[in-house]
Amino acid sequence: MSQLESIQTPVKEELKQFADIFETALSHENPLLGMALEHLKKRTGKRMRPVLVLLCARLTGRVNDAVLNAAAALELLHTASLVHDDVVDESDTRRGQLSVNALSGNKVAVLVGDYLLSVALQLAAKTQNTEVVGVVAQLGQTLADGELLQLANTKKQELSEASYYEVIRKKTASLFSACAQVGAILAGGSGEEVERMRRFGQLVGMCFQLRDDIFDFDDKADTGKPAGNDMKEGKLTLPVIHALNKAADDGMTALAMKVRRGEATAQEIDSLVAFTREQEGIAYAEWAMDEFRYMAAGLIPEDADQTVVEALRHYVDYLAQRNK
Ligand code: IPE
Ligand code: IPE
Ligand code: MG
Ligand code: MG
Repeated sequence: MSQLESIQTPVKEELKQFADIFETALSHENPLLGMALEHLKKRTGKRMRPVLVLLCARLTGRVNDAVLNAAAALELLHTASLVHDDVVDESDTRRGQLSVNALSGNKVAVLVGDYLLSVALQLAAKTQNTEVVGVVAQLGQTLADGELLQLANTKKQELSEASYYEVIRKKTASLFSACAQVGAILAGGSGEEVERMRRFGQLVGMCFQLRDDIFDFDDKADTGKPAGNDMKEGKLTLPVIHALNKAADDGMTALAMKVRRGEATAQEIDSLVAFTREQEGIAYAEWAMDEFRYMAAGLIPEDADQTVVEALRHYVDYLAQRNK
């Protein structure tokens, strides 16, 4: 059994029910919209977020209809943010196929993203739980805030770990945190249980984005998106931030600012990657990721259904070790 399968085992049936709701939400008679939705349905992604909702619900209670609707809402919000992200990043590929903007242009992609976001809110409303609706709406704000902070960082000289962490907490960890929190709320968890799962989600989300940023330095990773892309997009992530701060090399720092302005050549990016390796920036980011990983693992309750506990342990390990 693959690691992904052992994560999904305790919620296998529920995942099928989730997929039904999700797929129904992704159809429309409008030809342009319908075509984009069909395209999105072709490649589903790893479904890490809905699985987290379902597992956290199983930890404290059972998976009811509200849990399924919330899982679909959060995966749709994730999908919306990816559709918009590919416009912002001018990216042609997503999940190993064309991005919506590459397929149908930026105008269609922006509108499809808006449509998906609204369907997500509608599904959140179906839970009839105002706290959950609040969490999902707040999440939409936080994701956009994170993306805008990241954009603003490309115009700055500052190279701090703190602003890197703020961006990834907002653009990525917030989604995982909302998934874990909402699962626990809808399964009837106590205030303490809900807060513990919210923190757990946040930590695994940090771990997830660090893994993603480390991938970007690896040509062999099979992520369904181009490698070396972050610097091409003007993004400096933890490995290179660490290397620059550690070495205080004026030449390399000047190159990094060129990367942010989008003026660096492929060769210059290659030399920054080599410099990052030399300064052990990648090893440092792996160490940072492991810190989040062990903190997350420490929050998994031990006195619950053991198959769910085991699945959550695998979940944390998978996010840190995954190669796609
Ligand atoms: C991609 O998320 C966006 C990031 C936060 C880096 P995933 O890698 O979970 O995407 P899918 O849903 O599996 O395609
Ligand atoms: C993905 O972010 C979207 C969000 C996290 C909101 P990135 O731009 O960093 O990731 P990829 O490489 O396109 O998946
Ligand atoms: Mg982006
Ligand atoms: Mg992107």
